[in-house]
Amino acid sequence: MTENRVTVRRAVESDDAVLLAIDSFAWDASSGFPSFGAADHDTFFTEARGPDAHLVAEIDGNVVGYLRLENKYPFEEGAGVLAINGVAVTASARGQGVGSALLDAATAEGKRRGARKLTLNVHSTNLGARRLYERHGYVIEGTHPQEFLIEGNYIDKLSLAKFL
Ligand SMILES: CC(C)(COP(=O)(O)OP(=O)(O)OC[C@H]1O[C@@H](n2cnc3c(N)ncnc32)[C@H](O)[C@@H]1OP(=O)(O)O)[C@@H](O)C(=O)NCCC(=O)NCCS
Repeated sequence: MTENRVTVRRAVESDDAVLLAIDSFAWDASSGFPSFGAADHDTFFTEARGPDAHLVAEIDGNVVGYLRLENKYPFEEGAGVLAINGVAVTASARGQGVGSALLDAATAEGKRRGARKLTLNVHSTNLGARRLYERHGYVIEGTHPQEFLIEGNYIDKLSLAKFL
């Protein structure tokens, strides 16, 4: 699970503080929801979303990003579908292949779990992330027009997926 100096591993409990810090600054109006404030929570991991639900990327041993990978459905008929419910890289480490390495690791993990499909949602305005997903083989499965009103502008939610 490597790309250049980037390595990816499963998260462990002791990653909590650095992931909370990364998450606090990673999102803006084009990628997330400004109403979700960093002060809303004081831990990154929750009981429902612990280390097992996350892959973390490191450069030279420093954690610089994460990807949250979860079952999309809580019932067996949907068991082959995994959801990427968040990918974030600290601003100073962007453009070095960290996001790409995390997506490669998610693909490998999905295959390891026998999943047939990875899904995710992205704001239509998040052009950088959309380019990255497209390069990794994700295609638009659905468009949800004017799904969110963010800072005075209606934006579409795009549902993307990749078959493994
Ligand atoms: C989207 C995000 C996760 C991408 O992470 P990243 O580490 O910058 O991704 P990568 O470096 O793999 O790819 C980004 C760009 O760097 C380029 N790149 C990839 N590897 C590179 C390398 N080794 N050297 C230089 N550039 C590289 C890619 O070609 C890509 O260029 P593009 O913008 O023209 O498409 C990151 O920007 C982020 O955290 N954004 C805020 C949160 C967010 O939007 N998350 C997604 C929500 S759906």
